[in-house]
Amino acid sequence: MAVQRIGVVGLGAMGAGIAQVAIEAGFDVLGREVSAELGEAAAGRIGHFLTRKVEKGQRTQDERDAAVARLETTTDLAALADCDLVVEAIVEQLDAKLELFAELERLCRADAVLATNTSALSVTEIAAATSSPARVVGMHFFNPAPLMPLVEVVRAELSSDGAVATVLDVVERLGKVGVPCHDTPGFVVNRVLIPLLNDCVRVLDEARVTPESLDAAMTNGAGWPMGPCRLVDLVGIDVHVHASEALYEKLWEPRMAPPPRLVAMRNAGLFGRKSGRGFYAYE
Ligand SMILES: NC(=O)c1ccc[n+]([C@@H]2O[C@H](COP(=O)([O-])OP(=O)(O)OC[C@H]3O[C@@H](n4cnc5c(N)ncnc54)[C@H](O)[C@@H]3O)[C@@H](O)[C@H]2O)c1
Repeated sequence: MAVQRIGVVGLGAMGAGIAQVAIEAGFDVLGREVSAELGEAAAGRIGHFLTRKVEKGQRTQDERDAAVARLETTTDLAALADCDLVVEAIVEQLDAKLELFAELERLCRADAVLATNTSALSVTEIAAATSSPARVVGMHFFNPAPLMPLVEVVRAELSSDGAVATVLDVVERLGKVGVPCHDTPGFVVNRVLIPLLNDCVRVLDEARVTPESLDAAMTNGAGWPMGPCRLVDLVGIDVHVHASEALYEKLWEPRMAPPPRLVAMRNAGLFGRKSGRGFYAYE
């Protein structure tokens, strides 16, 4: 199916980024938030980011205005009824997602594809909230969605070939790199990156190196574009600990469990760049 109209449910950090990418690529987007104020605030942020692109010479004013005109927001879930694809980006809570997918199945066209941007929940379990799990697919964007090229396209146990192909086609039209994969905890990138970053934090104490030295070791010795401590600071120590806990609960592999040092930092409010302090201090 050739998708033209995309519904985005939840216009927080990820949903607003996904909506921005979609309107920039020429799709019509209807974003749904829980209140009109949140929807308007998200539309305002998107408009602001696109204005910055005009100022930097990356877009013309006309392109910016045309993209902004392709975005509408609503609080009414039923308004998504004529969307070809709906991307869910609400809070990472299974109950909330199950309730939403049951509603979306009831409200959306039978041929609409329903996608979830979940990072750590099972797409198969979310699909099971519907009686048409064939049309449910994972569409895992990375943060910030407008900048990060990768989208993992996650095939749940009962996803149809057609639904997966539709999402891969949309990802390509968004100018992103789609990597198809099966529905396993952490999908591809987090399955590899989370235990690796946990190992890095444990090495800090075992090898008694400073964060600066560990980052210098990995950038200069392993060719990483960014050191692991700087990367965890950027991701957010709270976000990383939460993702580690989710993977550990599913796989019971010790390397997935968040290192106590990171849990202590999270508990102390040292979230990294966004809180002004993590392994490093930020202005
Ligand atoms: N933040 C990340 O780094 C990241 C990366 C990839 C995927 N994800 C996933 O994306 C999803 C969203 O994460 P986020 O960081 O954008 O969260 P967020 O808290 O910034 O945004 C969630 C938004 O959803 C809204 N919302 C909640 N219930 C809703 C409903 N029923 N209908 C409409 N809107 C609703 C909230 O008002 C909020 O604005 C989660 O599943 C998360 O795991 C997050």
